[in-house]
Amino acid sequence: MSVIFSGIQPSGELTIGNYLGALRNFLTFQDDHECFYCIVNQHAITVPQDPKDLIHNTRSLAALYLAVGLDPNKVTLFVQSEVPAHAQLGWILTTLSSIGELERMTQYKDKSAKQGETIPAGLLTYPPLMAADILLYQTNYVPVGDDQRQHIELTRDLAQRFNFKYGEVFAMPEIKTTVGGARVMSLQDPTKKMSKSDDNNWATIRLLDTPDVVVKKIKKAATDSEGVVRYDKEKQLGISNLMGIYNALTGDSFEAIESMYAGKNYGTFKGDIADLLVGAMTPIHERYAELIDSPELDTILTQGAEKAAAVANVTLARVEEAMGLRRK
Ligand code: AQP
Repeated sequence: MSVIFSGIQPSGELTIGNYLGALRNFLTFQDDHECFYCIVNQHAITVPQDPKDLIHNTRSLAALYLAVGLDPNKVTLFVQSEVPAHAQLGWILTTLSSIGELERMTQYKDKSAKQGETIPAGLLTYPPLMAADILLYQTNYVPVGDDQRQHIELTRDLAQRFNFKYGEVFAMPEIKTTVGGARVMSLQDPTKKMSKSDDNNWATIRLLDTPDVVVKKIKKAATDSEGVVRYDKEKQLGISNLMGIYNALTGDSFEAIESMYAGKNYGTFKGDIADLLVGAMTPIHERYAELIDSPELDTILTQGAEKAAAVANVTLARVEEAMGLRRK
């Protein structure tokens, strides 16, 4: 069975970008792959986090993983900091990385630009930790949004570098972006991706937003003065972004959406997107409410960490042995 690994940071409340680009696609693998799904809290601390929010967001993310339909009997769901091998291999892969290649990462450039004068070093060394997350499980496929493509390429480079220098230890992972997994952009500035840590609340739709909030946010989403529902990423970025969301939710092609809304105004189009979103989110909200305060959630995470550690520790031992870090 091929191995799948993916993670999401508990760095805020999940957005529909995280859902459409990543979480929703995780489900498609659980029946016929060995899946490891992680709450990557050590990535979240690469920017300052309030401890109370971090622990709340960690639990909330775990409940969301399950609320969208992941079955803990089929997948291994766990918290990154509960499996120390991640940080251990992360450090090793940091020593194999060069500052130049890490500085080229778009996410580093974007996030460090928001930090002012003092840039946390963790923002730069985030990709080797992400590579460790993936490589520990001998992962074959990594389902992530298109925004993570550069990090996966770096993961492959690091795996190749290690294997060449110290002998074949790591499997070579491939990115798996699925249909409808395109990048969802900010509702207020469609040149930027929708991010859970965006301070502008109107820019994101949170997976746990109530229906009336969803309607208001979609109504306020940036459009243009063309007045035509048309996919045009040059002149109509806002509308194209909304069409991307529509396409992700229905599978309808951009041509089909254009002809469906020919002669109709943006208000009608936006109203329909809001309805589609609410329809997709309501069952998730119901299951989430059952899970969030349940002891079952802690049991699942504890067992998940044990299962993950058993696999991760085998790879870590091979790495340490190959590098001369382990006495026989
Ligand atoms: N806007 C997006 N469109 C499509 N996919 C997206 N993802 C994130 N934003 C979009 C996918 O969600 C998964 C989890 O991402 P993450 O939490 O590990 O980190 P991120 O990509 O940095 O996500 P955010 O929401 O932008 O978080 P913050 O604000 O903390 O940086 C990944 O698979 C990602 O591709």
